[in-house]
Amino acid sequence: MGFFNKIFKNNKTNNDSEPDNKIISSASENKNHKKSNSNPKKIKMNNIRINSEDRDFFKKNNDFYSKIIAIANQKGGVGKSTTAVNLTSYLGYFGYKTLMVDMDPQSNSTSGLGILVNSDKSSIYNVIISGENVAKVISKTDYANLEAIPSSIQLAGAEVELVTSMKREYKLKEAIDKIKSEYDYIIIDCPPALGLLTINALSAADEVIIPIQCEYYALEGLGQLMNTIKLVKENLNSELEIAGALMTMYDPRIKLADQVISEVKKHFSDKIYTTVIPRNVRLSEAPSYGKPILSYDPECKGAQAYKSFTKEVIKNGTKRTR
Ligand SMILES: Nc1ncnc2c1ncn2[C@@H]1O[C@H](COP(=O)(O)OP(=O)(O)O)[C@@H](O)[C@H]1O
Ligand SMILES: [Mg+2]
Repeated sequence: MGFFNKIFKNNKTNNDSEPDNKIISSASENKNHKKSNSNPKKIKMNNIRINSEDRDFFKKNNDFYSKIIAIANQKGGVGKSTTAVNLTSYLGYFGYKTLMVDMDPQSNSTSGLGILVNSDKSSIYNVIISGENVAKVISKTDYANLEAIPSSIQLAGAEVELVTSMKREYKLKEAIDKIKSEYDYIIIDCPPALGLLTINALSAADEVIIPIQCEYYALEGLGQLMNTIKLVKENLNSELEIAGALMTMYDPRIKLADQVISEVKKHFSDKIYTTVIPRNVRLSEAPSYGKPILSYDPECKGAQAYKSFTKEVIKNGTKRTR
């Protein structure tokens, strides 16, 4: 029986709480952190307990720079939202204060975290179009150290509405700049297009993760994406780096899958995550329950893969500071 099964639900009357139940300090409270965050925001912990091995991993790796990462690929269905939901929930699990920003009108990562998608509710749309206070649209989640800015279908019109505005490429960056000191990681889920919404995400980000599905047409469109990233770097955000390509939906029965991985490796050289996300039915079921995989089925192959991928993201972040 796995450690995750011992779920406790914010039970304040739980007197026999063992040390494991203690809220672990978040990375921003670490003295080595570059942010001056004297009054760290308290985020509700925790209905899923961290095991001691994972806590040790957190302790070893909490000397790092905070980071804003966009998850982008203009192809639909490659695993962007699945990656956004599962990366952010595992980052929170490991103790990092995390914000997930949903920039896709489809709102899959909003609903994937169990947040009600409601067009009456303020969303990232109101922030980038009507200049609503970003702090007011941040939504709590049921997961440790994790908050989110929801999307809504209204965002579908934003591309057009933004065209005439000043600094239209920087609307998201301007909003995120106001709150970024509160978080260790801000992860932005992009829509399946290379329009203004994705440009806004890339302009706001330090890094971009590119999920790539292990299928025959995987490399199609990649040139266009790389070119967009290059143009953003040259004209809008000189800091932008490619964090890496993440191979998703790997199915060993599909002959081409390994060939695709080696092609992508050639393309990205060292910038490809060692972890490959398998095709896993549990990963595709979890969103309909509004749950990340760490809550829906923490033992399944898909959960193990996303946890190990999250560790890679954390370790890569650590490397930069040394
Ligand atoms: N590793 C996986 N195994 C099985 N199904 C997956 C996996 N990753 C994503 N899916 C499913 O594939 C579909 C597309 O994934 P999604 O993350 O929404 O892609 P994107 O955001 O790039 O459009 C969704 O139905 C999702 O549940
Ligand atoms: Mg998506």
